[in-house]
Amino acid sequence: MTDWRVKSLDAILATAEKKSLTRTLGAFQLTMLGIGGIIGTGIFVLTSEAAQLAGPGMLISFVIAGVVCALAALCYAELASMVPVSGSAYTYSYATFGELMAWIVGWALVLEYAVAASAVAVGWSGYAVGVIQNFAGIQLPTALVNGPYAGGLINLPAVIISIAVTALLVVGTKESASVNAVLVVIKVAALTAFIVLALPAYNSENFVPFMPLGTSSAISAAAIIFFAYIGFDAVSTAAEETKDPQRNIPIGLIGSLVICTVFYLLVGVGVIGSFGAQPVYGPDGVAPYPGSPEMAAACRAQGDIAVVCSKEALAHVLRSIGHPGVGNVLGLAAGFALPSVILMMMFAQTRVFFVMSRDGLLPGVLSKVHPKFKTPHIVTMITGAAVTIGAAFFPVGQLAAISNGGTLCAFFFVALAIMMLRRKQPERKRSFRTPAVWVVAPAAALGCLLLFGYLSWTAQIFFFGWAALGIVFYYAYGRSRSNVARGITEVGELDPDVPPVGVPPLPGGIHTPGGKDA
Ligand code: ALA
Repeated sequence: MTDWRVKSLDAILATAEKKSLTRTLGAFQLTMLGIGGIIGTGIFVLTSEAAQLAGPGMLISFVIAGVVCALAALCYAELASMVPVSGSAYTYSYATFGELMAWIVGWALVLEYAVAASAVAVGWSGYAVGVIQNFAGIQLPTALVNGPYAGGLINLPAVIISIAVTALLVVGTKESASVNAVLVVIKVAALTAFIVLALPAYNSENFVPFMPLGTSSAISAAAIIFFAYIGFDAVSTAAEETKDPQRNIPIGLIGSLVICTVFYLLVGVGVIGSFGAQPVYGPDGVAPYPGSPEMAAACRAQGDIAVVCSKEALAHVLRSIGHPGVGNVLGLAAGFALPSVILMMMFAQTRVFFVMSRDGLLPGVLSKVHPKFKTPHIVTMITGAAVTIGAAFFPVGQLAAISNGGTLCAFFFVALAIMMLRRKQPERKRSFRTPAVWVVAPAAALGCLLLFGYLSWTAQIFFFGWAALGIVFYYAYGRSRSNVARGITEVGELDPDVPPVGVPPLPGGIHTPGGKDA
């Protein structure tokens, strides 16, 4: 059963040990790192989708998704502190479950990162279109700002931002710690302004009915809004750069998740209390799934007024409750801040591909480095093309759901891996140990299964189809060519742990020694 061949943890660590990292990060920096990775399209855009699925009950969805992420975060942290190398869940799985599972997890990470990048690009497009309309008075043609799902042809702004970010990654963009910090401040300030203006307009009647579509709708919405929390992994992957990781990592992880959850709940209360967040219904009395053509038709029928119909939910609410100026500025803030999330996601994707290619599971051409820019340009352009196609033609909610499917798969295996390694290798050094691991890890795994079970059918089918395609590819290509199969110890033209481009800290667990201040 060569498919269960594992890659020795010692071999993986030997690579990592060549790098010695200075421990500079404290609890505050880690928390900022987490917040920077987390806040993005989820809260700015998917709030509408969550409201369409659960109405005001989306508040419960924010809590459910936050708890599942907190549990998964604690598991990630232990693995990251044990295996501080690139590839995140893929690498952990290679060492724990063997090559086939590692391949499936790596393949699932494509959904987490590349599809998430498409989702954020579409989310950005909604705000960009609003900004162009409100600042320049230019109404872009519907056909060019929507995919076919909403009666359009192509989402051109989403295409443009995807291509622009790809180009930046190919030439090697530099984004400093201070730029990253500024973006965090912009995002937090935008959400704070929203909360401060929306809460005084609170009307408790807007909370009735609280769960118009039933109790389970809160879990369906949690499965979508889970997207809003992805990105906290940036904290766990910084374990080796952290002072007193046993104390500071959980503070950074849980701190950033708690702060974001509180922000998200306050934003949710603001949206519901000030404006209302009831779903819209089709002529048959059924609430259509967000992003579907039926949803677009139901929205058109009621004049696109409801928040569930808006592509720029928070700006839309502020404009509607008498703060059009601040609403427009919030749109501008989102327009500035969201591209960095696309950048982080695409960067993470290229590094996962890079590591898989270096391991021999993907063609070696993917780990080629550009002679001038010193970036893995081929894999970046392939990733960019896929992200652009996703962004051009698919709705944000569907993309987020597909991305969540891949992420939940990765988190699930991380939760299993941590338990297995505690059993098999109890003596191995862990600079951070998950507290109450036998409660936390099983709860994380179950939470992932629960949310996966409540994803849309499309997302679930896509996930299994993608996994099946991956297995076919593995048997057709990687199985016979992998370095482990051929007894080769890994080599690479480019060390993916030292990004040639300086980008903000990564979501999803790619360890970047330079990441903390890159
Ligand atoms: N959590 C990130 C976002 O909401 C992925 O955009």
